[in-house]
Amino acid sequence: MLKNKKIALYVTGGIAVYKVVDLMRSFIKNGAQVRVAMTDSATKFVTPMTFQILSRHEVYVDTFSENNPAHVSHVDLSDWADISIVAPATANTIGKMAYGLADNFVTSALLATASPIFVVPAMNTDMFENPATQENIQTLKNRGVYVVDPDTGFLAEGYEGKGRYPENERILEELENFIMTKDMTLPLRGYKILISAGGTKERIDPVRYITNDSSGKMGHAIAEAAYQYGAEVTLVTTSALNASKAIERVQVDSAKAMFEAIDERFDDLDILIMAAAVSDYGVAHPATSKMKKEDYSKLLNIELKENPDILKTMGQKKKNQFLVGFAAETDHLEEYAVKKLAEKNLDLIVANEVGKEDTGFDSDDNQVVIFTKEHQRLEVQKTKKTEIARRLLDKIIEELDHHS
Ligand code: C5P
Repeated sequence: MLKNKKIALYVTGGIAVYKVVDLMRSFIKNGAQVRVAMTDSATKFVTPMTFQILSRHEVYVDTFSENNPAHVSHVDLSDWADISIVAPATANTIGKMAYGLADNFVTSALLATASPIFVVPAMNTDMFENPATQENIQTLKNRGVYVVDPDTGFLAEGYEGKGRYPENERILEELENFIMTKDMTLPLRGYKILISAGGTKERIDPVRYITNDSSGKMGHAIAEAAYQYGAEVTLVTTSALNASKAIERVQVDSAKAMFEAIDERFDDLDILIMAAAVSDYGVAHPATSKMKKEDYSKLLNIELKENPDILKTMGQKKKNQFLVGFAAETDHLEEYAVKKLAEKNLDLIVANEVGKEDTGFDSDDNQVVIFTKEHQRLEVQKTKKTEIARRLLDKIIEELDHHS
């Protein structure tokens, strides 16, 4: 996400400056270009030399030391930046930003920039909680500036309170989300997409269920890739795997619960991808308390009932939604997949062979064949599920161009 991004990093004078050195290094590690400007007071904590060596570029401090007559540095920096980050942001600089003051290099450049601004306040609790600071922060937020909420914890002053500079990991995560919301060039920006993942669980009693080998890895990988492509993503999953915070996660267990979660969202969707392995049958009469061994006649004769076919139902309901199904088969892969595509009124189907050791269920790899409604055939050789997810979305994006 930060790859090739031009980041103007504005460092102001608080004890957390030393932590920002590491933050800058992670920007660079992630492929960003970084230029640093500091206030005078920031240079009292860490010297510009540290930032200069690590960013491999001159650090701007003084508005009036113009080395190059062809440029006005603070305007150059503010124009150059794809994004401006103020870290740590003192109450003083936040106040100046709120009031549009420009009395040093940092505040002048921040006033001149058209780039999105991301602020990481770090200060003493009383300063942070002072209504003046809170109002200034609110003013910035109202203007679309992103302000990270400080941590509560042990402060440099030697006591606990809110105002602490957060872990760089959280800052990076929030920054990536912020950049994503600002980047209008992402291919799935504006699309609402729902992905189902994992094998459904059909309860027999409170401790037993019928399920299958699906791990949810493929569905989760598609959800992450769709989010990286700028889509608004809902993930309806039975799996315990992680998902990015910005993805709406709906945890379900049975096919019925999955059906309900999808059905109530379907009208608003642009794309539905059913990567879940939905059980075709559920238990007709699940017991409400644990069945005993003595109940063997019941356990041995579990009555099943047919579950709703979610995809087929959505195929009948669909208006303009783009529908994608998966066909996990052990044999006659392509024949069954193409048949399913037509039967369920899909726009695209992903056929994958299961029952093999190194692809399919629970594996990190997969090998698939993608078929479109027009019977176009795209083979994706064995590769990581994350890569399959991207290739699938690329194909969907191509199809969306001529999908009415
Ligand atoms: O017919 P089959 O179960 O093989 O179809 C697989 C596709 O249909 C998958 O995309 C799966 O998520 C979906 N499906 C469904 N509801 C079911 C069974 C399968 O949506 N009850």
